Amino acid sequence: MDKLVSLCKRRGFIFQSSEIYGGLNGCWDYGPLGVELLNNIKQAWWQAMTYREDIEGIDASILMHPKVWEASGHVENFTDPMVDCKECKARFRADQIEEMLCGSPAYKGRKASRCAEEGKFTEARQFNLMFKTFIGPVENSGAVVYLRPETAQGIYVNFLNVVSASRQKIPFGIAQIGKAFRNEINTKNFLFRTREFEQMEMQFFVKPGTDEKWFEYWRSERLQWFLNLWMVKEKLRFQRHEGKHLAHYAKDAYDIEFGFPFGFGEIEGIHNRTDYDLSRHQKYSGKNLTYFDEESKERYTPYIIETSAGASRSLMAFLVNAYVEEEAPTAEGKMEARTVLRLHPSLAPIKAAFFPLVNRDGMPEIARKIEQDIRPKFKVFYDDSGAVGRRYRRQDEAGTPFCFTIDSQTLQDQTVTVRDRDSMRQERISVDKILSYLQGQFR
Ligand code: GAP
Repeated sequence: MDKLVSLCKRRGFIFQSSEIYGGLNGCWDYGPLGVELLNNIKQAWWQAMTYREDIEGIDASILMHPKVWEASGHVENFTDPMVDCKECKARFRADQIEEMLCGSPAYKGRKASRCAEEGKFTEARQFNLMFKTFIGPVENSGAVVYLRPETAQGIYVNFLNVVSASRQKIPFGIAQIGKAFRNEINTKNFLFRTREFEQMEMQFFVKPGTDEKWFEYWRSERLQWFLNLWMVKEKLRFQRHEGKHLAHYAKDAYDIEFGFPFGFGEIEGIHNRTDYDLSRHQKYSGKNLTYFDEESKERYTPYIIETSAGASRSLMAFLVNAYVEEEAPTAEGKMEARTVLRLHPSLAPIKAAFFPLVNRDGMPEIARKIEQDIRPKFKVFYDDSGAVGRRYRRQDEAGTPFCFTIDSQTLQDQTVTVRDRDSMRQERISVDKILSYLQGQFR
């Protein structure tokens, strides 16, 4: 993890939020490469989930009517148990003490569970994770609103709007990508548990009785999505929620977990939420949220199968999955260490880099011309500094799948070398084929 965190900062994937002021706990900023990677992950998800006939997309507001969160159960149930250390004043999530270290510099490296055994902690009390703010200039209880802790509720409250605007028939889904906020008691493990993050959620509305079939369908689709983007099969597993771990709204739930360096952790949840959400919103809003099924001539409250992925957590998983350190031959045939991000080409922040072999004989001009022709279509990079081997290494670290080098042969026959990031194999292609070559790779 330390190596990955350092690469993320050095190469401009992830920065600490407000770093020049000492940082803000649980918040991170995406740098030039990070924002491209994040956008590519979101685009891959959006394409897989909404470029199909039975799913519509929406983008709901972050601030919603406060009654939404009463109806959803968040005001009452979205809490974590919190304890304070009476000695060092550190604050812990009571159900995660086993994983935490004591907050006192005097006991550096000591497990918090030892402090618990020694009776240093207060009684656990419930802490609501929703961030509160106020609508309008007066900060009173009548003006309280919450920053949404999940995007799902924006979909439920728009169920009727989408049905009538899109004329979709059950079974169908509504998808959304957006920010969510949770005032986590303890943030940890880089992007894994943060206070501000992004979710990619899809709610699939089905006829009661068909819910278990659709639950299985979405479980397998969502696992396949990660595999299609080159996640290693052995690093993914399902974890079923049982007993007290099953959320208040769920009949069945599985997490897709990824094997991080600190252990397996959830990256996506697939939940059978039954008719809980629409029934609750019907009760609290007084609006009829039932659905008339033309085919079976029945009226019912749809069941919901939810797929809920974290965009930021997935990004971290994709980075861990792609990070490789290996020995690779140099141009002179010696072996040297290289760090490479083997990202799926569609996720790679930069798709291609262009290098003149040397800065003379017209090579930079040709390289610049090619780069400028390709730039409107793909995110590309031009580099003419240092030995070409160094330039390859820099692109390997950024995950760039293809590097094109303009050399003396280019001057004679209008061909360039294209070097593949993973195999490091090179082939010559004609300059006028570069665009179609790249288009073929990213179809
Ligand atoms: N609508 C259901 C829901 O929000 P969840 O399991 O609480 O379910 C879904 O969250 C996903 O959101 C998680 O699998 C994770 O990827 C991401 N997520 C949740 N809390 C997070 C946090 N504090 N920081 C980063 N990602 C988080």
